[in-house]
Amino acid sequence: MLKNITLHVVSDYSALSTAAAKLFATYVAANPVGTYGFATGGTPEGMYEELCKMSESGKLDLTKITAFNLDEYVGLAPNDPQSYAYYMENRLFNRTGVPMANRHIPSGIAQCPNTECNKYEELIHKCGGIDLQILGIGTNGHIGFNEPENTFAGQTSHVALAEETINVNARFFDDINDVPRYAISMGMQTIMMAETLLLLASGDSKAKILKEALLGSITPHVPASVLQMHRKLIVIADKAATKYI
Ligand code: GLP
Repeated sequence: MLKNITLHVVSDYSALSTAAAKLFATYVAANPVGTYGFATGGTPEGMYEELCKMSESGKLDLTKITAFNLDEYVGLAPNDPQSYAYYMENRLFNRTGVPMANRHIPSGIAQCPNTECNKYEELIHKCGGIDLQILGIGTNGHIGFNEPENTFAGQTSHVALAEETINVNARFFDDINDVPRYAISMGMQTIMMAETLLLLASGDSKAKILKEALLGSITPHVPASVLQMHRKLIVIADKAATKYI
C-alpha cells in the first residue's frame, strides 16, 4: 500500500516531463518567491526543457525564485561542462532568468569540502528551507548522492560515490576514469525537511528500485525508502518505471 504517497503514473518519458513541469509551474504560480530544490541527471532534462518553453512563452515566471541544487561533483569547476552548475545554467537558469544571486549549488572546488557542506546547509536554513524539492532516483536507490550505507546521511555532506553510480554516470563522460569519485550532497535529513517532495522516475531501469523505495522496508541500504516517511511525497513515474507497483 502506498501510505501517504501521491503517485501519478503517466504513459512515457514525454508525458512525465510535461506532467512534472505543469505541477512545478502550479507551485511557482502559488508562490513565485518560493525556494525550490533542483535535481540533475537525465530524468529532469525533459521537465526543464518544458519549463524553459513555458517561461519563454510567458506562462511561467522563475525570476523571483530561490534555487538550491541537491548536489555537485567534487573537483569540477562550475564552467566544466560535466558539472551540475553548468548543467543547471544551460538547461534551466539562463533560459528562465533565475536571478544569479539566487542560484545555489555546492561548490565542487571549495578548498575545504566539509566547510562548504556546513555553509550550504546553513544557507538553506537561512532561506527558510525548501518549499518544493525535485528528486530523481539512482538505480541503487540513491537520492542526490546519498548512496546506500549502514546509516542515513543527515545533513549536507562530502560523500564517496558508489561503484554503481560511477558506472551508471559514466555515460555522461568521455571516459569512466573522468567520473569524479566524490561529491557534495544534501543529506537525507536536509531533503526530508522540504515542504513537498516531487520524485521523478522513468524507464525499466528504475522499476525494481522504485518498488523497493516506495513499498519496501525503510533502510539506509535503499536511501530513497526514507521518503515513505515524508508528509508530502508526490511521485510522477511512467509505466515502465512502475511495472512492479
Ligand atoms: C545522479 C544524481 C541524482 C539523480 C540520479 C539519477 O547521479 N546525483 O541527483 O537523481 O543520479 O539520475 P538519472 O536521472 O540520470 O537516472
